[in-house]
Amino acid sequence: MDIERFVADCVAANAEANAQAAVNEVLARAVSTPGAVLAALGAPEKAGLTILLESPTLTIFSATWTPQMNLMPHNHLMWANIGIYTGREDNLFWQRTPDGIRAYGADALFEKDTAMLPEEALHSVTNPLQRFTGGIHIYGGDFFNTARSQWNPETLAEEPSDGTRIREMFQRENQRLGLAP
Ligand SMILES: [Fe+2]
Repeated sequence: MDIERFVADCVAANAEANAQAAVNEVLARAVSTPGAVLAALGAPEKAGLTILLESPTLTIFSATWTPQMNLMPHNHLMWANIGIYTGREDNLFWQRTPDGIRAYGADALFEKDTAMLPEEALHSVTNPLQRFTGGIHIYGGDFFNTARSQWNPETLAEEPSDGTRIREMFQRENQRLGLAP
């Protein structure tokens, strides 16, 4: 897999009329050969984000989850595509109600699977396996510089979120497991 070529293909697809679906086609093609993605990005050894593209209209990164890592409910405020190249990522979907957010659905993503989340989606993520999970995450906007929300996993209180908070969460997870931050 040629990462530069992959990013260029995503940028081109993002210019199409149905950008999210077009980008997802590129993503699905990439993760259809997960071994090639793994060879290009390296086998995950800690929780982390490797940014492949940051632009006002498109953000692409690989995200690696430690064994049994959890990520609290959060929104993106832009469409999001996820493609898994190793391990498994379980998604729990939430919706706003008059009494706060409530879980209403789930999707288990395995190697080679992709998911297309709409702009209003709200999800929490778990790696249920006792090994690392790796996925390519693509967002139809400037993911790291957008003020978004996350929800406390126990109280479900809404809190501000952004790229800095997400990075801190990954660092804490690595510290918890005694891995380099
Ligand atoms: Fe997310």
